[in-house]
Amino acid sequence: MARITASVYTSHVPAIGAAMDLGKTHEPYWQPLFKGYQFSRQWIQDNPPDVVFLVYNDHATAFSLELIPTFAIGTAAEYEVADEGWGPRPVPKVIGHADLASHIAQSVIQDDFDLTIVNKMVVDHGLTVPLSLMYGERDPQAGAWPCKVIPFAVNVVQYPVPSGRRCYELGKAIRKAVESFDEDLNVQIWGTGGMSHQLQGPRAGLINQAWDNKFLDRLIEDPAGLAQVGHIEYVREAGSEGIELVMWLIARGAMADINGGPKPRLAHRFYHVPASNTAVGHLILENT
Ligand code: DHB
Ligand code: FE
Repeated sequence: MARITASVYTSHVPAIGAAMDLGKTHEPYWQPLFKGYQFSRQWIQDNPPDVVFLVYNDHATAFSLELIPTFAIGTAAEYEVADEGWGPRPVPKVIGHADLASHIAQSVIQDDFDLTIVNKMVVDHGLTVPLSLMYGERDPQAGAWPCKVIPFAVNVVQYPVPSGRRCYELGKAIRKAVESFDEDLNVQIWGTGGMSHQLQGPRAGLINQAWDNKFLDRLIEDPAGLAQVGHIEYVREAGSEGIELVMWLIARGAMADINGGPKPRLAHRFYHVPASNTAVGHLILENT
């Protein structure tokens, strides 16, 4: 059977991708940030997933105001890297897992979550930056990413956006779906985006370290309580783009303890300010 072995949580700041692509990671500004992912790069070598179920948001790249799916699951064989204005990032295209994705779509839709099925889309920094953070520089000529990826895009860009509570419940349905897939696969679920940031308006540049760290504490220890936090608190305390954090609750909802299993082991925790305009948060939780 397929198993969810771990969840990974990380910000997906586009400037991190640019720093890697332009060879700036050793500059003093970026060094502390990449140091926080050193552990993670070793960890993923030691714990290699067959498939990553990667929860992220599209930033008006594949989708636009013309079509706004709340939850979209990628069921394609592969995904091209998007051109977000400076040409596509120099990273490999993303290879999907169409069979597992279709199975998850079947199971989760039958569990009453309305997913949009996506058979063709490009993937933006929301998806590629987490892969780069975890796997390091990857020359597209030198081969593929080491794992297959099921892109799962959540609308956190255009209101109305889904509640943290619904995201958490969806994570439970995803867990049930993965663990009923009849093939031995090591699956990780990644929740990306956040932490506190606001990119526009009078409060642009807002960062709330106290709130972010409380969010990390509660995601580990009290996810059910955290899932009750409403939109207004995210926006007020973590800025307009801090709402991306509801995606972390999808990954957390898919962990074993939510379904009567043991508590996850905290393998790694990292927090750093600033990266571009945002606070960067990162956790690795292992199912034991
Ligand atoms: C920025 C953009 C993002 O999508 C994000 O999650 C964080 C930061 C930015 O433009 O700096
Ligand atoms: Fe973002």
